[in-house]
Amino acid sequence: MSDEVEEVDHSRRRLLTAATVGTGVIGAAFAAIPFLASWKPSTRAKALGAPVEVDASKLEAGQMLKVVWRGQAVFVVRRVKAAVDQLGGHDAMLADPASIDSTQPDYIKASGAARARNPEYWVGLAVCTHLGCSPLGAFAPNDSFQVVGADLGANWPGGFYCPCHGSKYDLSGRVFKSMPAPKNLAVPPYAIGANSRIVIGVDDAPKTVS
Ligand code: FES
Repeated sequence: MSDEVEEVDHSRRRLLTAATVGTGVIGAAFAAIPFLASWKPSTRAKALGAPVEVDASKLEAGQMLKVVWRGQAVFVVRRVKAAVDQLGGHDAMLADPASIDSTQPDYIKASGAARARNPEYWVGLAVCTHLGCSPLGAFAPNDSFQVVGADLGANWPGGFYCPCHGSKYDLSGRVFKSMPAPKNLAVPPYAIGANSRIVIGVDDAPKTVS
């Protein structure tokens, strides 16, 4: 596995059971990811901000991984269509549903609730906008998220939970109202090339992506 892959959320494996027996809003098969990331810029180049490429086609629906770009962890989540379809249904619960006051490229802002170049994949910084902790994935609807003893509520649509002070974000990284975090999770510039190759750190896929 590439050294660019920092962490795969194996704790989500348990969600597979919930997804297969329950509402099926988002499948969550968190098996080990056999291979990700193929392009390996040097350590120095990465430190200077070189783009990081991820082969997202290896992700199954409901899987998430982290890569490191410019010293920051970045989530890449593959969302099932049902999860994307319900994103616009809870705008009234969000602090900034249109991401007016949040950090992202214009093309992400223009994508609406999906906050993505391809709705199937969500890419965002794994940095809580409160004090910088790394949120955890809690992708299943109504997930009680007992791993950290947090009750996410009966209407939890799936998303991210920050264990430090309890901020909650939806599956597009949009923060819910009345949370410590003031903004949605930031989205870095990225491009998607052929075969679901995501290049984080550029707005347009380089010709080497194919
Ligand atoms: S750092 Fe995430 S809620 Fe405080």
